Amino acid sequence: MPTILITGTSRGLGLELTRQYCADGWNVIATCRMPAEASELQALDKQYPSLNVHALDVANFTAIDKLAHELKGRPIDVLLNNAGVFGPKAKAENDPRQEFSHMDYEMWANLFRINTMAPMKIAEAFVENVATSAQKKIVTITSSVGSISRTDGRTNAYRTSKAATNMLMRNLSFDLKNRGIITAAFCPGWVKTRMGGEGAPLEAPEAMASLRRVIANLTPKSSGQFWLYNGDLIPW
Ligand SMILES: NC(=O)c1ccc[n+]([C@@H]2O[C@H](COP(=O)([O-])OP(=O)(O)OC[C@H]3O[C@@H](n4cnc5c(N)ncnc54)[C@H](OP(=O)(O)O)[C@@H]3O)[C@@H](O)[C@H]2O)c1
Repeated sequence: MPTILITGTSRGLGLELTRQYCADGWNVIATCRMPAEASELQALDKQYPSLNVHALDVANFTAIDKLAHELKGRPIDVLLNNAGVFGPKAKAENDPRQEFSHMDYEMWANLFRINTMAPMKIAEAFVENVATSAQKKIVTITSSVGSISRTDGRTNAYRTSKAATNMLMRNLSFDLKNRGIITAAFCPGWVKTRMGGEGAPLEAPEAMASLRRVIANLTPKSSGQFWLYNGDLIPW
């Protein structure tokens, strides 16, 4: 069976992806910051011998290298960057630190490290694992709010971090083409999670089932695109 590595699997979309790939019989390497506190992930770990849980804070690049060293020689068919942070919410939390004239630059740099730089670091660290696999896919969950042509302002830190990650995934489609590696950026839709909130129209199981179908159908020809979870393309 194929192998997938997923980041940020303690809750939300990462947990749902872990659940679905496990149920489908994949070998799943699930990483999260604090496995001991991730009770739902622990339950899956007990249920599925094909699931391996590893502690990983994606902001810690030394830890990424350490995990890559541990997993050296193990083919990874799909490397899936899911871990992400939204930052302060002006509307829901009355916290304007990513709005014009209130920017918190340290927060912005931290968001960039997690949302943008970590996917690059993870791609660099695990590229041999992906290149030696059958499917050779690197996928990153970004967001349609990172679409430059669709923006309507606000949320500067999150939007810029996701727009930059879209560029990264497009860039990597060229940089890794000669290794046969396919890349993709995905918006998962607006989904009910801690980040998406209760008002989101989509449930994680349906959105992630659909996103998985699109991942399964990625080809070298479609590498470097920006996808919605349902297979529509999103304008840059
Ligand atoms: N839900 C939506 O509507 C929506 C829409 C567009 C894009 N997205 C994107 O989808 C992805 C998943 O979001 P979600 O909705 O599932 O959000 P969530 O419920 O807030 O979950 C975020 C996950 O990322 C992990 N994480 C955060 N910082 C991390 C770090 N430094 N190292 C490792 N893991 C870290 C969290 O782990 P802890 O439990 O340790 O904090 C958690 O598992 C994100 O990239 C997000 O930007 C979501």
